[in-house]
Amino acid sequence: MRNIVILISGSGSNMAAIAQTAQREDWAHKHQARVCAVISSRPDAKGLQMATELGLPTQVVSHQTYATQPDPRAAFDLALMQAIDDHQPALVLLAGFMRILTPAFVAHYADRLINIHPSLLPAFPGLNTHQRAIDAGCRFAGATVHQVTADLDHGPILAQAVVPVLSGDTANTLAARVLTQEHLIYPKAVAEMLVSLRQSF
Ligand code: GRF
Repeated sequence: MRNIVILISGSGSNMAAIAQTAQREDWAHKHQARVCAVISSRPDAKGLQMATELGLPTQVVSHQTYATQPDPRAAFDLALMQAIDDHQPALVLLAGFMRILTPAFVAHYADRLINIHPSLLPAFPGLNTHQRAIDAGCRFAGATVHQVTADLDHGPILAQAVVPVLSGDTANTLAARVLTQEHLIYPKAVAEMLVSLRQSF
């Protein structure tokens, strides 16, 4: 069985969409894969409860624990890597994971680390993507599933979805429209990745 570890920091709706799709589409038989753990960088992430309700084991690796270390970012990433590697994952999915990862972390999971970003990359990497798209007068916005490289929000694109920006949109209304698409393209891109990984053996 190939293990999938999902990293979250917040509401975890993408994590839930992937886990529910895995159950509905029976990834265990179809792809010999299962979501084996959900790890949060925040103890208060709402997604932790959702993961428990979905029957998934959860763990917290809080970045605050490492704040007083000489190199907090490296110390956090090391602890996170240890927690992830306990599961020997075939794929590690960032789903609303709000930490910038060190190059050492990204290199360690090269080719098996995937992220979803709420913009049509390469437009609007970084934060506040929906407000920035509205402010720029974009007629379309969307989301991108991509492989993670050391260059933030710039890895090879696996999937994208486009939504219209409507007059009167706020960052919140646009975010909600984009999020419904995220819940479709992220599970689909992961399933495709599982197929391509199997073919490469
Ligand atoms: C999503 O919009 C995702 O693209 C971004 O953060 C949000 C997380 O939402 N990286 P959720 O935690 O999956 O509900």
